[in-house]
Amino acid sequence: MVLANFLTTDKRTHYCGDLKISDADKEVILMGWAHRRRDHGGVIFVDLRDREGIVQVVFNPDAGDSVHDQAHKIRSEYVLAVKGKVHRRPEGMGNPALKTGEIEVIVSELEIMNESKTPPFSFDDDEISENIRLKYRYLDLRRPVVQKNLFLRSRLAASTRHYFEQNGFIEVETPILGKSTPEGARDYLVPSRINKGTFYALPQSPQIFKQLLMVSGFDRYYQIVKCFRDEDLRADRQPEFTQIDVEMSFITEEDIMQIMEGLMAAIFKDCLGREIKLPLPRLTYHEAINRYGKDNPDVRFGMELVDLTDIVKDSGFKLFGEVAASGGIIKAIKVELATSLSRKDLDGLKDYVAIYGAKGLAWAKVNAADWTSPIYKFLRPEEIEKICMSMGAKEGDIIFFVADTPRVVNDSLGNLRIHLAKRLDLIDSAALSFTWITEFPLMEYSDNEKRFVSTHHPFTSPFLEDLPLLASQTGKVRARAYDLVLNGSEIGGGSIRIHRKDVQAQVFAALGLSDEDARSKFGFLLDALEYGAPPHGGLAFGLDRLTMIMTHAESIRDVIAFPKTQKASCLMSDAPSKVSIEQLMELSIKIV
Ligand code: AMO
Ligand code: AMP
Repeated sequence: MVLANFLTTDKRTHYCGDLKISDADKEVILMGWAHRRRDHGGVIFVDLRDREGIVQVVFNPDAGDSVHDQAHKIRSEYVLAVKGKVHRRPEGMGNPALKTGEIEVIVSELEIMNESKTPPFSFDDDEISENIRLKYRYLDLRRPVVQKNLFLRSRLAASTRHYFEQNGFIEVETPILGKSTPEGARDYLVPSRINKGTFYALPQSPQIFKQLLMVSGFDRYYQIVKCFRDEDLRADRQPEFTQIDVEMSFITEEDIMQIMEGLMAAIFKDCLGREIKLPLPRLTYHEAINRYGKDNPDVRFGMELVDLTDIVKDSGFKLFGEVAASGGIIKAIKVELATSLSRKDLDGLKDYVAIYGAKGLAWAKVNAADWTSPIYKFLRPEEIEKICMSMGAKEGDIIFFVADTPRVVNDSLGNLRIHLAKRLDLIDSAALSFTWITEFPLMEYSDNEKRFVSTHHPFTSPFLEDLPLLASQTGKVRARAYDLVLNGSEIGGGSIRIHRKDVQAQVFAALGLSDEDARSKFGFLLDALEYGAPPHGGLAFGLDRLTMIMTHAESIRDVIAFPKTQKASCLMSDAPSKVSIEQLMELSIKIV
């Protein structure tokens, strides 16, 4: 008999993927999608899928004509309800690839709840173009791999909320329609209809509001919050992304780091069952740049950068001397037993470092008695020996050298290090290597803007002992800022804020912001700081990036339900899109 409507008469008893061998002989009701149908001359097998997984359901000819006839009509992605009995599959007929592979459900009743057009791609295919997947994202999201990521993301958020609630934090929502402020990335603007010619900005982060909440005395704030930045996108950037945002009062950086380490430990335990050893290791910004060439170093493997400037600056390779004389440096990395790299590979890597501005890449294959290298003939034996000593180089290793400005050298070797480690499979993908990066420079000189700009944001406190350098040696002033890096990805960052007006004024001056500018841009924060602002600081984690690492996702789009493309568009809804003339008129906006 075919039931007219399962939902009015019966309730679902199990998720398909949850059925176990211990359910054998039970009568069950399942609802889900026909993942695959196989017709074995009489017997029809359907893989029925729901969010928990797949189970095989079987339509025998003796189930009754109407059930069997209906089963013939089932096609991919039809929505089904079935009633049937769980059977242990006959010996040797199990499917070890399936969690429910030891059992099947022999169907006695069937309802086809809905039909489906043939989907534009197979859910078992891992090679589907991302554009097709994003266009039909609601179908793509049926794929177990993508669903798994979103389940983990949800657990991460739940674990975060639980941790903060237990530690006395209060979640406060802050506005989405805010004021455009300078610094940082470009704002997304929203025109105001009521106040013609004016614009709201979507928040790049709740930074100012969370500081105001500290002035108000909330003491411990957190929020899982959407942030919006109109910047050029990369594999780990989205125009709208989610932060776990935190601010605390009457604390130092040590307190914040400790609370955040506790959060990381709780999240990894709750979501992945993994223990994180605390406290987490730290590197200063300078150490990170010197040893890894980057302020988000991947410390899961060695291959550290070694400065050879002193050893090679007087060598016969003129370029090294010239670079050193003009304030540049010569650094190198060593790849151990790199026998798989051919001569052609070595020459090809020159093009890779060129991306980062390096004008060349010298290499040396270390042999028992000499080097195979384009620069071997220019170096004296004692220089060769000293280089090998400093690098700990042995026969079979390859050394790569770059001579240039410190920025180019660190950038190119820092990235080459990662590139080679990936290519030679030197990274333990199961490892979780956290590193705090501390003592960032407060400001960096921007060649574009011809002035100093904040490395973090203009409310970041300098080291008080560095304050005297602010006017004269601006680039040397250290910020009380910290980033947390996990496996080479910046997952979070924050700082102790300036809570005193006099210090804030000095910082604005160093940034070239006049009193007037500062007032028009952050006036309300500056006002608030005059009404008894407590010492405070905080941090924000990128929730999407954390989820990426926890799920081993290649792209940030794989951990967001409805992401944007690299071109900041949504292929499914076609956003952004044109709007009507009437809409524009109402806003007094004219497109030029
Ligand atoms: P920051 O700008 O460093 O700090 O951002 C914090 C973290 O957010 C993540 N993140 C992003 N993730 C995805 N797509 C993006 N476009 C993107 N931009 C940033 C990163 C980053 O570490 N208000 C300060 C925090 C503070 O000082 O408390 C802030 O927003 O993982
Ligand atoms: P050349 O004498 O110009 O052929 O250079 C000898 C080697 O030094 C080649 O392998 C070049 O790739 C390399 N080289 C050139 N410029 C640099 C540089 N700035 N840093 C490191 N190696 C370089």
